[in-house]
Amino acid sequence: MALSSLGLLIIGSIPTVIGVAEAIDAQKKQNQQAKERIKFHLTAQFSIDGKSAVQAATVVFKNDKLYLDHPAHPVSGYKFNGFYFGYPGPENHQGLVSMASDDPPALHWIYASSETKALRHGPRKDTMDQIIGPWNWSEDEEWLVLEGSPYFLAVEEEDGSGWALYYDQAGELKQALAPRRMAVISLHRELQLGVSSRMVGGRMGRSERWAGMGAFD
Ligand SMILES: *[C@@H]1O[C@H](CO)[C@@H](O)[C@H](O)[C@H]1NC(C)=O
Repeated sequence: MALSSLGLLIIGSIPTVIGVAEAIDAQKKQNQQAKERIKFHLTAQFSIDGKSAVQAATVVFKNDKLYLDHPAHPVSGYKFNGFYFGYPGPENHQGLVSMASDDPPALHWIYASSETKALRHGPRKDTMDQIIGPWNWSEDEEWLVLEGSPYFLAVEEEDGSGWALYYDQAGELKQALAPRRMAVISLHRELQLGVSSRMVGGRMGRSERWAGMGAFD
């Protein structure tokens, strides 16, 4: 009968509508997480003296610090290749991790030293009382952001080791580090959208394996 079939239609349609909304929510969450997990290198464009040409530098790890491998002052080190990951703590901040060596494989947190404001990398035990985030991307998703700021300082180290990265949290570091040469820079996220490591040889990607092995602790 027309009436009962109409009733069925209405009753049947409500759960469907809710289901779609839930599916969209779940999809959004999944998309968000997929975005956080995309690996990226970091680059910065600057001139070492404000006069010579602006050139691109790549962020590398050297000892426990982050350096800029710049054509005018090359630094060899392990290339930053990071992604976002929730930092385990009461604030639930978005952290930033990267492989820091292949042999032995090590996944490190990226943080700013609360004392020197130098950007560093290390296992979780090194990150206590340091600035561990929240890390994020800019609205256009192009730039790395720490505590809402897309600005970092590239500073020429006094020991000649190269240009290291600092986080000028309170805008006072620039003065404190003068007369060392420095440049205010932003760090560009070079997304690694190629072959997913998850697919290589049907094995889990490195990050997944390491998460499973408690490398984040
Ligand atoms: C991260 O940045 C995006 C884009 O600017 C913003 O929509 C989002 O709320 C930020 N997330 C956090 C946790 O600050």
